[in-house]
Amino acid sequence: MQEQKGESSPSISSLSIVQMNGVSASYDSKEYVLKNIQMSISRGANYAIVGQSGSGKSTLLRLINGMMSPTKGKIMVDYNIPNPSDKKFKSLMHKIGYIPQNLGLIKNSTVLENVLIGALPRVSGFNSFFKKFSDSEIDNAKKILKQVGLQGKAERKVYMLSGGEKRRVAIARALVQKPEIILADEIVSELDHVTAREIMEVLAEAQATMKLTAIMVHHDLQLALEYADRVAVIKEGEKVLEIGVEGDKIVDFQSGNYTQTEILEMFTNESKE
Ligand SMILES: Nc1ncnc2c1ncn2[C@@H]1O[C@H](COP(=O)(O)OP(=O)(O)OP(=O)(O)O)[C@@H](O)[C@H]1O
Ligand SMILES: [Mg+2]
Repeated sequence: MQEQKGESSPSISSLSIVQMNGVSASYDSKEYVLKNIQMSISRGANYAIVGQSGSGKSTLLRLINGMMSPTKGKIMVDYNIPNPSDKKFKSLMHKIGYIPQNLGLIKNSTVLENVLIGALPRVSGFNSFFKKFSDSEIDNAKKILKQVGLQGKAERKVYMLSGGEKRRVAIARALVQKPEIILADEIVSELDHVTAREIMEVLAEAQATMKLTAIMVHHDLQLALEYADRVAVIKEGEKVLEIGVEGDKIVDFQSGNYTQTEILEMFTNESKE
């Protein structure tokens, strides 16, 4: 079922914003790094993906972003198959604020220059080549820098920033895109407990005020459960659980078979492996 939308600017409007049915993915066509993934992410949700290193978390985000295609199965983002060579998905891609695991910042450029990269899709032709932005785009970028707690740092080169500040720049660049979905790959990993939560609060506030869907990869299950409505647990390429907190309990939404004690035992065993 395809929704009617304006041709020039497709908006992300379906109830289930990301839908994966039997998705498997491979980099070398020999071994699947993701296997038969079923996933349904509601519009406006704060969805987390957790798993050990190499389990396939970044690959999942790349599939949603259209950076790679599934080998088997189907993935839909607002009823569109992610495919950058498809014109319609290309405009949708501009509404996906993707923050890669390495942040993808230009270290020798200033904070403001990095953040304005998020506005590039709105700059046309010649101006886009010379990265020439209107005053209103610059004002908007500065407003977002304030929103993420980087006021007074616009002219600072990125290599001079702390780890937490660099994360804020990457968030600001994604927000300048005026996204409807944020994909963040381990944005708070390797940060201390306090800074990690400060960054999560910045994202949570942006999500609420800008009505975003957030899909975030985390290493820390506890942090993921603290902020996310749903947490998908990936193990060796398979989605083994989908859990969330209801009241004061951890609930298994995927099969309904596991109790909180069993879920926690799985993680205790995993960390011993
Ligand atoms: N470009 C690539 N070419 C070949 N194999 C890849 C490529 N990228 C990832 N892989 C492999 O795919 C599997 C899943 O990788 P992925 O990066 O999705 O894991 P991850 O869960 O994000 O791990 P981490 O927590 O370390 O970031 C790993 O076995 C990895 O070696
Ligand atoms: Mg990764």
